[in-house]
This record gives sequence, C-alpha cells and structure tokens, in this order.
Amino acid sequence: MIGLARTAPTWINMNHIQLTDAMFRVLRDFIYDISGIFFAEDQKAILESRLQQNIKKRQLTNFGDYYYYLKYDRNKEEEIGLLIDTITIHETYFFREKKQLDTFMDEVMPELAERGRKNGRIRIWSAGCATGEEPYTLAMLFLEHHDFRDINVEIYATDISRAALAIARRGVYRESSFRAIDPYFQKTYFTKEETEFRIMDKIKQPVVFLHLNLYEKERWGLLPEMDAIFCRNVIIYFDAASKKRSINAFFQKLQPGGFLLLGHSESLLALSTDFVLRHFKHDLLYQKPPDVKPNYFNLSDMNK
Ligand SMILES: C[S@@+](CC[C@H](N)C(=O)[O-])C[C@H]1O[C@@H](n2cnc3c(N)ncnc32)[C@H](O)[C@@H]1O
Repeated sequence: MIGLARTAPTWINMNHIQLTDAMFRVLRDFIYDISGIFFAEDQKAILESRLQQNIKKRQLTNFGDYYYYLKYDRNKEEEIGLLIDTITIHETYFFREKKQLDTFMDEVMPELAERGRKNGRIRIWSAGCATGEEPYTLAMLFLEHHDFRDINVEIYATDISRAALAIARRGVYRESSFRAIDPYFQKTYFTKEETEFRIMDKIKQPVVFLHLNLYEKERWGLLPEMDAIFCRNVIIYFDAASKKRSINAFFQKLQPGGFLLLGHSESLLALSTDFVLRHFKHDLLYQKPPDVKPNYFNLSDMNK
C-alpha cells in the first residue's frame, strides 16, 4: 500500500499564500475602484503572484488581512501606493511606435507650431508616462524641430505609480530603454555613466512630472488644456467603462483641433464618437473637431 506523503513535495512552495476566488473578487473590485485597472477572472494567478511580496513585507499571512490593511490601517495610503506600484506594468522605451512618431513629427508638429505661434505656447500631455521615456522622447522631437525654436513647449507627464515617476525624474536609463532609438539621439542627449545613460538637463527642462491617477477625474483640473495628449498602452488595462470615462475626459481636456494619440493596438471603436479620425500619409490619428468650444472649467472656477 502506498502511504500519503507526510511532507509536501519539494515543488510546492510552502511560503506561497493562496488567493481564494472570493478574496480575488474583493481585491479585484478594490483595485478597480481606485484605479480603473481591471483584472479579469483568468488573471487571478497574476494578481496572486504579484502581491506575495507586499503581503510578506507587512508580515501578514493571508489575503484577507492584507485587504483589511489596505482598507483600514493608518498606513493604508502608503500601502495602496505600493499596491499600485506592484500591479502596474511600466514597460516602455524611447521612440516607441516610431511610425506614429514620424507622422507626429512630419505632419502634426507643423500644425502645432502654427497654433503655438498664435497662442505663444504648446502643451502636450503624456498620460501614463511610466518611467519617462515617452515624454523625454517628445522633448527631443520638439527640441530638434526647427519650427519650435521660438515657441514655448510644456510637456506634462503623469502616472499613477510613484515608483515609476521617481525613475522618470532621475532620468538615468539602462540599455534596454534604447532598443528603438536612433543612435544620433542617444549620442546627442545622454551622457554615459558606467553602464547607464543620463538624460541631459535641456531635455528634462520642458517636462513636468506629476502624480495623477487617471481614474480620479476631479484632479484633472490641476492640468491646463492640451494641444495633444499621448495616452499609449495605458487604457488597455482598463475595462470598457473606465476606458470610456478616460476618453471622454481627454476630449474635455483637449483644445479644439487637439490630437489624441493612442497605442497602435488601441482604438476608439465602441468608446467614443466625439473625435474625428484624421488620415495622414502613413498613419491615422484622432483629433477633436476644431469647432468644438473649449472646456473652460478649471480648479480656480471651483472657488468662485
Ligand atoms: C505600459 S506603461 C505605458 C508607458 C508609455 N505610455 C508607453 O507607451 O511606452 C502604462 C503606464 O500606465 C500607468 N497607469 C495605469 N493605470 C493608470 C491610472 N489609472 N492612472 C495613471 N496612470 C496609470 C502605469 O503605472 C504605467 O506606468
């Protein structure tokens, strides 16, 4: 007769904390409510594995206690920050989606320059900027473009993850961030420090980093109206309702004629009919129709 093994087989990790189906739904809803990020049923194992360290760090032994900590502990804000850092994906690199950037540089930037000459400045928002490669790429493009020599360019770069923003503000990058960059830009705008590369101050200068949860629309009033919004590879983690909410708010935040640039796998299909799809030589981009009145609401209006 074969007896039951008294000790667990070595391939079972005794320290692994199990996430039950019921607790998964509780945590999933909590995360959704604070960020709009949605974990589908088949992503339970991902959430279970990502949160192991967070739970152990607090010397907790199960997901129920962890949830209780997130909800009620006096340090809950800090823990929620760590939760967000853990569950968000910060994958990014310089000059990501080159074809779209070429269209932006060749065909959109001359239009923006015209607006810039009228208004005295241009405002760009990198929403979900992760570790900063996207806004810094834009800063390099604007610095290189001769149309913008005398136009003030402001680049707002926001993210929900404080850990990602800290890396962005520091501006020091490993080789993997340069996988799609033309060597000219790496040579011109970075200085080598042992195995890493530091971005130059003149690229940092037009970029303002802010901690902002796209799901907290009330805080968007902190930002001015934009001429173009880059929100690439961010709302892919949202469900349809929070995607719609964000797109609608981007529409409000854009100047008439302003552009919305999404990731190449993303579209506004079934999300919004407010934008027009502009056909350029090598790409299609969303634009707020030029004749829509701007949204004048901002924070200072709340005090009137
Ligand atoms: C995959 S990165 C994309 C970075 C960059 N836009 C790009 O395309 O290379 C997604 C970023 O979106 C951020 N993010 C996710 N949900 C967010 C939310 N509710 N508010 C603000 N940022 C969010 C994540 O923290 C992460 O840094």
